[in-house]
Amino acid sequence: SQSEMPRPNAPGFNLEHIEHSNWLLEKTNLLVEKQYEAAPIINGEFAEGTARKLVSPANTSIVVGDVIDADAHTIDAALTSACKAQAAWNNLGGERRALILNKMGELIEANYAELISLLSREAGRTLNDGISEVREAIDFCHYYAASARQHFVVPSSLTGPTGEVNELSLHGRGVFVCISPWNFPLAIFVGQVAAALVAGNAVIAKPAEQTPLVAAFTVALMHQAGVPKEVLHLLIGDGAAIGKHLLSDSRIGGVAFTGSTETARLINLQLAQKPGPIVPFIAETGGLNAMIACSSALPEQLVDDVVTSAFLSAGQRCSALRVLFLQQDIADRTLELLTGACDELRLGNPWELNTDMGPVIDQDALTLLTDHMARMEQEAKVLYRYPTEKVPTEGSFFGPHIVELKELAQLEREVFGPVLHVIRYKTGELDKVLAQINASGYGLTLGVHSRVEATAKKVFREARVGNTYINRNMVGAVVGVNPFGGQGLSGTGPKAGGPLYVRRFATERTYTNNV
Ligand code: SER
Repeated sequence: SQSEMPRPNAPGFNLEHIEHSNWLLEKTNLLVEKQYEAAPIINGEFAEGTARKLVSPANTSIVVGDVIDADAHTIDAALTSACKAQAAWNNLGGERRALILNKMGELIEANYAELISLLSREAGRTLNDGISEVREAIDFCHYYAASARQHFVVPSSLTGPTGEVNELSLHGRGVFVCISPWNFPLAIFVGQVAAALVAGNAVIAKPAEQTPLVAAFTVALMHQAGVPKEVLHLLIGDGAAIGKHLLSDSRIGGVAFTGSTETARLINLQLAQKPGPIVPFIAETGGLNAMIACSSALPEQLVDDVVTSAFLSAGQRCSALRVLFLQQDIADRTLELLTGACDELRLGNPWELNTDMGPVIDQDALTLLTDHMARMEQEAKVLYRYPTEKVPTEGSFFGPHIVELKELAQLEREVFGPVLHVIRYKTGELDKVLAQINASGYGLTLGVHSRVEATAKKVFREARVGNTYINRNMVGAVVGVNPFGGQGLSGTGPKAGGPLYVRRFATERTYTNNV
């Protein structure tokens, strides 16, 4: 609930204000040469393992840092230490843990510019992406701290028979494993870890292998904020290799995961087969997110929101628009404006001020997108390709593309990048559109552009999705304002940045005393 928000969301920067952009560029320019290091962090110390170099997705000749990947021995050390430390952390109480989360938020805020710089070089996030991402990370800390104060400090008194005391209280479950993706390598990483910690769990964090540097940097801030070193450990390296050992261990008490639907299924399978307790699995996965634009939509606003939703962050958001349903009578005009807008987008180094789209995360991502376009060439109608001569060649860049489909079923799974699919529909076919969206099985975000209130209401009522956005873009959920997460193939809930999230990381105990 809104009452959980202790303060307004964190401040951002407006890069169109010269004093803001100058401040940020001055700071980030000082950091362009800085080399980072990441290794598994066990009890606050870097552990040994297999070394590799991490290069920027925007320019593979730029080395951003040195990375050490975890081996099996390190995984066991993390589990042993976390298990031992958890009870004391739980007994510290919700208020003390909330204070530490507030401190974490403050330290992230104090490192605003450096985090933006690192996000741009390690993950290809543009400056604007970085600004929103750092804000979101700060917000998660303060929001989940407030949540803990509300639910973890004083047990709820329950009414019972006269003479009996009944109370319900929340406690940590044990060791929570937090597995986070490369597309929001700071915000999602911090959100999961902060929630698991504040609920009284010890945490083993496993960031994506593409983005260990920002994770290691942030874990150091978390320890500095007061999280005991035995309570939070970091494992970096290949997901499948680490998952094999970690997720089959009887000592884990829960898993929070954000990533692909396929990986979520694999994790679920491993958890089902592991010995020991049955543990909660919180999964936030992909989407085949649609936007429905009816003939009453305002064309310029529609095009602006489509560009933001489908192409910014190089389409690498789980919330991003993948399929635009356009009512026939506005389709040609909208597509003309849209292709014009795509030509204006500038691909480039994400740390530069005038870049609209940075790279996709790596060569594998680029290959998946190129393969998808080759298939679309055969099976659909390609309406727009970004001019090849404007695509930088030093890294894994992929420009905006637009493809016309006949029906949503032509896409079997999420396409993670800046490819927008368009499907035309005729007056009277809204039910058919909604049926296609529901039949996909995904249910993350949905956009509606319509000035007809009844249409928006009908879509919200009938579409089985987690976040519906009307007459605006459909990305950039704000903590405590647009609690975020889907259903069906898109995840289990509860919503990140929402009032139920932290509670899902806890176990409940009822105290009954016949005094
Ligand atoms: N939370 C992000 C957004 O709303 C998606 O990953 O865009």
